[in-house]
Amino acid sequence: MCGIIGFVGSGEAAPVLLDGLKRLEYRGYDSAGVAVSGADGINMVKTIGKVEELVKKVHECDRLRGSCGIGHTRWATHGIPSDINAHPHMSEDGKFAVVHNGIIENFTALRSEFEQKGVKFQSETDTEVIVCLLAYYYDGDVKKAIMKTLSRLEGSYAIGILCADEPEKIYAAKVASPLIIGVGAGENFFASDITALVSHTKNVIDLDDGEIVEMTADSLVIYNHAGKPVEKPAKFVAWDIAAAEKNGYEHFMLKEIMEQPGALKATIEPRIKDGWIVFDDIDIDMTKFNRILITACGSAYYAGCVGRNVIETLCRIPVEAEVASELRYRHPLVDEKTLVIVVSQSGETADTIASMKECKKLGATTLAIVNVVGSTIAKLADNVIYTWAGPEIAVATTKGYTTQVAVLDMFAMWAAEKLGRISEEEYKSLLVDLMRLPERAQRALDLSSRVKKLADKYYDRSSLFFIGRNIDYSVCLEGSLKLKEISYIHSEAYAAGELKHGTIALIEPGRLVVALCCLEELFEKTVSNIEQVKARGAQVLGVALENNRRIFSEADDVLLVPVTNKLLVPVIEIIPLQLFAYYVARKNKCDIDKPKNLAKSVTVE
Ligand code: F6R
Repeated sequence: MCGIIGFVGSGEAAPVLLDGLKRLEYRGYDSAGVAVSGADGINMVKTIGKVEELVKKVHECDRLRGSCGIGHTRWATHGIPSDINAHPHMSEDGKFAVVHNGIIENFTALRSEFEQKGVKFQSETDTEVIVCLLAYYYDGDVKKAIMKTLSRLEGSYAIGILCADEPEKIYAAKVASPLIIGVGAGENFFASDITALVSHTKNVIDLDDGEIVEMTADSLVIYNHAGKPVEKPAKFVAWDIAAAEKNGYEHFMLKEIMEQPGALKATIEPRIKDGWIVFDDIDIDMTKFNRILITACGSAYYAGCVGRNVIETLCRIPVEAEVASELRYRHPLVDEKTLVIVVSQSGETADTIASMKECKKLGATTLAIVNVVGSTIAKLADNVIYTWAGPEIAVATTKGYTTQVAVLDMFAMWAAEKLGRISEEEYKSLLVDLMRLPERAQRALDLSSRVKKLADKYYDRSSLFFIGRNIDYSVCLEGSLKLKEISYIHSEAYAAGELKHGTIALIEPGRLVVALCCLEELFEKTVSNIEQVKARGAQVLGVALENNRRIFSEADDVLLVPVTNKLLVPVIEIIPLQLFAYYVARKNKCDIDKPKNLAKSVTVE
């Protein structure tokens, strides 16, 4: 969702801001803008559409001169995407410019308060009230004006601020929205995430809720909510710029699909010590719990659905998975005997954060499975296991999902061992298969050219179904989401046995049904569902294990994936489906890395 960048240094700010916005594009947005503070006050350029449009507009404008500025990519919440609603927003007197990520919940009340004072609002955004407040409280002391402004705001925000009276300074503040500081040599930055900064600096400071930062090119002061300076050391972030660039791939999504063997290896290997899974970073007594609840959104939730099956099978504890946006409204039966596992690539998903807070309040112990180090979820959770997938830029998650599933598999084995519910023999055999996941993922990637041919055959279908049973069904959910979100083709995932209870009415000649049949013990059952849809004219693309020959007489087309332990199959089985979604979207000329209406990091509820 909205991306923020701020820069103060000795060179021109505009090129740095535009470069930062390009790197934040993956978060999803529909308009963009920059403001630069210089000798003639604050000037800004904004546009609906892509950052390329903004770059053109900035080149046509010769007023954006100055070494200090803020930039923004906006994902519309209050008000349509338009030039006027794009950020930055400027106060009527031209003294303050602001960029904002998040939602000001009391903006209606604040807006009418200022309308009564005669302020004419330019935009429909909630953000514009922030510049009104700043201008209203400003008496020559910017920090004081910011503190007074923040005390009036309710909701979540990360804001970047320029003041025309201080053309060599930038300010930022945050509450419940991501914002980090980048510490450079003779230059300083803030940004929504590290991807915007790694080409400039790898030394970062996490800003905590309620803190304000004041920066010049050579100095940086962080104030706590009471306005007192606080010392916070910078951390070195190991991500490199190559990991956040395309390295010759046409799209980030394809690059990230191809990176999965490496990401799995990085996630799994360091946690295996002397033949046992060791999580140095967690302190959990499994005997305390009578129940596990997994909560997350979108693909992370689908990873949780796989995890539910694996944990329940190995640990014999009741496990539930629930989407985070629903969990809170169920008044969940959660207490100190519940372990709540929260899954999130970004660590910033608003619904997931809210659910986690609710469960903590009810006494649960929380374990977060997160990719982004230092993210809000990682900070709030009692325990964290990081997925070491590296930066994920494409909006549609791929390596984020497979590494989440791998961590859930490892957790299931670890917990089953702690509870004494798995024999050493079964554990060791699973461990061998776990360690071979990277190699088998690589072999699944070798299906790429075959998948591309199938995508060329089926790319023009208007609607399709993914069916499977048990763990295959969990993978259907993710395969179907991948396809619809990047190709805009309607697709549904169905538990194979459930289709006949109504939805089979939609099966008609030519309808493509992707049937996942990797679970050997349920193969015959799924075959009977395949026969039901074929009898109604559907074409079937079967996905099965390499040793399965029967599938050839049941399906029109077949993709065979490497054999592995049935509990670990999802990590491998999803790979051809990711490739299928990718090649179908490519054939349909879709904007694969930035699908319409979507955002990478969903920081609003
Ligand atoms: C789909 C996708 C989303 C995310 C969801 C949760 O490809 O990426 O469904 O999985 O928005 O995001 P995180 O994992 O960042 O909490």
